[in-house]
Amino acid sequence: MDTDQIRMTFVDFYRERGHQPLPGSTLVPPPGDPVLFTTSGMHPLTPYLEGRPHPQGPRLVNVQRCLRTTDLEEVGDSRHLTVFEMMGSWSLDDYSGPQSVRWGHELLCERFGLDPALLHVTVFGGDGLVGPDTESWRVWEELGVPVEPTREDNWWSSGATGPCGPDTEVFVWTGNGPPRGTPTTDDRWVEVWNHVLMRYRRRGDGQLESLERPSVDTGMGLERLAMVLQGRESVYETDLLEPWVSTVQGLWPVGSSLRLVCDHLRSAVVVVGDGVRPSSSGRGYVLRRLLRRVLTRLWRQDRSHTLSDLPETLIEVTLQHFGQPVEGQQVDARVVRRLLMDEQDRFDRLLRRGRSVVSRYRSRGELTERDLFELHDTHGLPRDLVLGVLSESEAEHESGREQLPGQDHRQGLGPA
Ligand code: ALA
Repeated sequence: MDTDQIRMTFVDFYRERGHQPLPGSTLVPPPGDPVLFTTSGMHPLTPYLEGRPHPQGPRLVNVQRCLRTTDLEEVGDSRHLTVFEMMGSWSLDDYSGPQSVRWGHELLCERFGLDPALLHVTVFGGDGLVGPDTESWRVWEELGVPVEPTREDNWWSSGATGPCGPDTEVFVWTGNGPPRGTPTTDDRWVEVWNHVLMRYRRRGDGQLESLERPSVDTGMGLERLAMVLQGRESVYETDLLEPWVSTVQGLWPVGSSLRLVCDHLRSAVVVVGDGVRPSSSGRGYVLRRLLRRVLTRLWRQDRSHTLSDLPETLIEVTLQHFGQPVEGQQVDARVVRRLLMDEQDRFDRLLRRGRSVVSRYRSRGELTERDLFELHDTHGLPRDLVLGVLSESEAEHESGREQLPGQDHRQGLGPA
């Protein structure tokens, strides 16, 4: 099954069960929302999960693009992506958690054809405040799926305040041979789906209060499910990411940074497609940070590598996949590529300037805290960048090779 078929199968399954399909929102939440990016399918539905009736009824389904900056450091492993798609279903004060679990099992095993013996779940085992989720536990046992209880790992909230509750997470065995261990003891169990019982709201003072209208919120990672169904070892080998991997591989020999470069460039394209522009703060800074991380990897290999090599067709296909440009945005592949180039030039200038300023300071001796402060405050050179420049210069001195500064990923993070 390719990813388009997976999306369709998911949405059709829930439509057949009375769920109204919602269009996915952009990555940029509406004005007034304090969150930088949409981090999960439920985010745009927060008011409805807190009790407001939804105009399209109590059963909803969609596929939502999400961006989690918290996952940035995980990118490069087999299963994390900065921008990913979440297939979600919702019961707004309608059917219960056990129904959601039963449908989830049916969809995975009967429609997607997963072997039930390869499933394991975790459930909320209870803490001092909230009792164990015995309802989900019982249903999974009836379905013959092994259950592992946890505490923190099975409590879901989208932020410090707002709707939250116990969840039950579904894992698929991806190792060779029969399953071993449990999701918390063997990472060959890959989490694909989360069913959250939204029963509480965390107030500003940290206290939990019960929601008058409890809901069920589920989210399944499209790329992870594709990885499992397509028998791949990582999300980068699925039909969705493979064009990026083969293109980048052909353009730049980035070695072990291949996944990071593909992920960050693809994510940057999607973020630009949703109307974000590079800047020194907020969303624009996340975009800048993604691109600088890519550039430091490319230039570490070869200073002549340039983002202008990226084919417009790949950008175009990616924008189309995400339904971009969204209404009101003037973006096409040419515009995206131009923007990537401008950002590349800007970073290049910063590195050149930074190198000469820092070497001036260094000629007076070891950099002091005061120097670092002044370099940031007066010259706009962030500490990370300066320390990176410094270490690169030493490496250069030792190896005798001509290298430009800023070729360590820690340097890509400066806001200048
Ligand atoms: N909102 C839940 C999650 O993102 C489903 O995992």
